[in-house]
Amino acid sequence: MNDLAPLLTPEGRALLEEVRDTDPAHELAVATRLRREHPAELVSAALGQARLRQRAVAKFGEEDARRMFFTPNGVEQSTRASVAAYRARRFTELGVTSVADLCCGIGGDAIALARAGIRVLAVDRDPLTAAAARANAEALGLAELIEVREADVTEVDTAGYDTVFVDPARRGGRGRIFDPEAYSPPLSWAIATARTAPRAAALKIAPGVPHEAVPDDAEAEWISDGGDVKEAVLWFGTEQASRSEQGPAQAKGGPFRATLLPGPRTLLSRGLPDPPVRPPGRYLYEPDGAVIRAHLVAEVAEQLDGGLIDETIAYITADEHRPTPYATAYEITDVLPFNAKKLKALLRERGVGTLTVKKRGSAVEPEELRRKVLPKPHGTEAVTVFLTRVAGAPTMLLGHPATGRSTG
Ligand SMILES: C[S@@+](CC[C@H](N)C(=O)[O-])C[C@H]1O[C@@H](n2cnc3c(N)ncnc32)[C@H](O)[C@@H]1O
Repeated sequence: MNDLAPLLTPEGRALLEEVRDTDPAHELAVATRLRREHPAELVSAALGQARLRQRAVAKFGEEDARRMFFTPNGVEQSTRASVAAYRARRFTELGVTSVADLCCGIGGDAIALARAGIRVLAVDRDPLTAAAARANAEALGLAELIEVREADVTEVDTAGYDTVFVDPARRGGRGRIFDPEAYSPPLSWAIATARTAPRAAALKIAPGVPHEAVPDDAEAEWISDGGDVKEAVLWFGTEQASRSEQGPAQAKGGPFRATLLPGPRTLLSRGLPDPPVRPPGRYLYEPDGAVIRAHLVAEVAEQLDGGLIDETIAYITADEHRPTPYATAYEITDVLPFNAKKLKALLRERGVGTLTVKKRGSAVEPEELRRKVLPKPHGTEAVTVFLTRVAGAPTMLLGHPATGRSTG
């Protein structure tokens, strides 16, 4: 079905309610029964929508996902609610009261913007996607703040809005698109549009974007949620962005920001030189992915009075335990040249039952190693092993998450 309208009728809505918790294993039987009373096409549309809603719970939460409408691409490409809400708050803090959401998809960002009190023009050229965005604004009671328009964003007049938010499609028929000029619309169009906005504008890009690709007049922000990097955003017209041409951060190529959700906790680049390389101390810190992507390991190392175990590896070592949201601390008990046999013997000797394998700068396959060195539990101890390099040499560091109070 390429039209949402039948699902929005009273019959469609009742059917959606009826199939909402259908177990995929029973779908066929449920469909056969419902087809006796409803058109076959409507039944399969309702079952398909129920499946999409179940998938969307992880991004939108149970309560919203159960009321919203999705397309398969719309679920995949939408911004998760936590990230969209954070960004919407940032827009309001920047004084923005209306946004043209260019490439709105099913409305992940538009919904969060409206919930922050922002008036939204939500534009998408795909008819089914635009219909879903409209249905979502309606279903969540936000229709007064969100105007959905089915159009090509390059042809939309955004005068009358404080700014733009652009979330280009980064997937094509053959999967993920890496060349920013192959985004739809191309990144250069999105940048030019953001630059001319009267107030701070934002556009979403892939988290793997090389730092060289960040324009000099933009602030780049990497956002993680629960430790996983979710996306990167280029901001134009923020205080940090406009300072970038002369600021100290420019030494390393622009103001970069790492934001960790929930929180938010946010860290800005100060253009620090790389941290010193030093021998492993009592603690090893694993920086959050957003910190690593934003190249802010030096900023965190400074807070911890730490250094790197290797100049090319983003593990920080320090002598003290200083709890920080930007890195997970481990207390290290052993630092040894990498040797699987030796590791196996150590785990047996120490009665280890659970082994967590982490790696950075090692070609070893963690799961394979875990099976090899701990084929069965020897006891109840839990150990974390880091496979990495220390001053260039393949090394294993054993330890466990640091607990308790700061030793600093
Ligand atoms: C990554 S999704 C947007 C997701 C959205 N921010 C959300 O949270 O739900 C990109 C959307 O851009 C739309 N799109 C791509 N090129 C477009 C264009 N030139 N004009 C309008 N929409 C476009 C696609 O149809 C797709 O729905």
